[in-house]
Amino acid sequence: MVRLFLTLSPAIPRFNLCPGISILATKLRTKTPTFSLISPSSSPNFQRTRFYSTGTRIYSLPNSENSNFDDNLVVLGIETSCDDTAAAVVRGTGEILSQVISSQAELLAQYGGVAPKQAEEAHSRVIDKVVQDALDRASLTEKDLSAVAVTIGPGLSLCLRVGVRKARSVAGNFSLPIVGVHHMEAHALVARLVEQELSFPFMALLISGGHNLLVLAHKLGQYTQLGTTVDDAIGEAFDKTAKWLGLDMRRSGGPAVEELALEGDAKSVKFNVPMKYHKDCNFSYAGLKTQVRLAIEAKEIDAKCPVSSATNEDRRNRADIAASFQRVAVLHLEEKCERAIDWALELEPSIKHMVVSGGVASNKYVRLRLNNIVENKNLKLVCPPPSLCTDNGVMVAWTGLEHFRVGRYDPPPPATEPDDFVYDLRPRWPLGEEYAKGRSKARSMRTARIHPSLTSIIRADSLQQQT
Ligand code: KG4
Ligand code: ZN
Repeated sequence: MVRLFLTLSPAIPRFNLCPGISILATKLRTKTPTFSLISPSSSPNFQRTRFYSTGTRIYSLPNSENSNFDDNLVVLGIETSCDDTAAAVVRGTGEILSQVISSQAELLAQYGGVAPKQAEEAHSRVIDKVVQDALDRASLTEKDLSAVAVTIGPGLSLCLRVGVRKARSVAGNFSLPIVGVHHMEAHALVARLVEQELSFPFMALLISGGHNLLVLAHKLGQYTQLGTTVDDAIGEAFDKTAKWLGLDMRRSGGPAVEELALEGDAKSVKFNVPMKYHKDCNFSYAGLKTQVRLAIEAKEIDAKCPVSSATNEDRRNRADIAASFQRVAVLHLEEKCERAIDWALELEPSIKHMVVSGGVASNKYVRLRLNNIVENKNLKLVCPPPSLCTDNGVMVAWTGLEHFRVGRYDPPPPATEPDDFVYDLRPRWPLGEEYAKGRSKARSMRTARIHPSLTSIIRADSLQQQT
């Protein structure tokens, strides 16, 4: 059985802010706040070291990776890396005080994917309201916050900029420290908010629209990348399959394929499992996408005819393709995870948990199949609840908290910044250093303009402190 670590209320109200944009808002276990700004920078023990932003200095506490020095910390998290505008307020104890999401569902359906310019405009329209709602729902004002955390990469530059501008304006106006967050680290670390037992080192499979990562998390900010995709991520394959099958994309493609797959025969269409003969932990979904497209063409399925208007036979054909695609897409995950767990246990024999997170981890079939693999290896699966698997502000606030606690943050920015201020955005930002055994020969390396990994930045800072 798949273990779900549900700490959140399942009832999340939806309402509309702007035409075509729906908002998901939650108020969870709100308490009257009595917070003060506890800033590690006031401690004489802090050493100055450069960390997040180019050109600015931050403070870092040596030997404090596990310190829990203040559970009264309250952090606002802002996420705009792709198509969701999200904000949340989270306390150091892990209590979620509020969570607000504005999704660009109508745009997604209209363009069949994320269109950066339109996405940027949609973020800009709602960002102020989303952040204000998050504060209101937490019954807080900016003055009650300890810090602001914001995703600075990886993601779409135009979209990241909207969140970073807003975060810096809140932090600047209220003299708050600011933490730049790695989106994929946030997907992994939110599991530590829902599962108290989850301590380092652990393994993580992070599966979303743009990433397919297998990582070994040694400690906060220190990751070894065991595998990645050589082309597309699994979420992209779900989204294209949904589009070509004429499914309703308004909730994104994944949930639509998952739902239709329930009606289909998963063994009826023969798709090859990708990279079967590559004895590494890397992924490839481009070939499977092509196989799906060819199967759709062979059955003469017309994507312009919505599945809701299809004949019984046409609907059955679509369901069979959806189910067969999902089975093989997940088999690919299973095969690579099995090998990655073996590699990870060689490197860190004390591992007890495997985290599966990112949008695709909300899929029930994915959870079920990966739970079997993980249990067979005597590990425990930790899957955040679906609302914390897909992009959200909680994961950003929580990851910000984890780094803030150990002194990794930037000091407050100036209250006003010029319109042409160059923000520190990291659209292509690896999480960890590649494991030598896992390097793929199949990878088409597009290394230009890649930022140094989060892990290498933190390692360089620690070395600098030691000298
Ligand atoms: O993490 P996420 O919300 O955003 C990115 O960082 O990309 O992941 C979005 C991806 C989309 O491709 C979406 O189709 C997929 O997650 N997804 C799913 C499911 N829910 C979301 N894929 C399969 N089954 C689902 N239930
Ligand atoms: Zn994501």
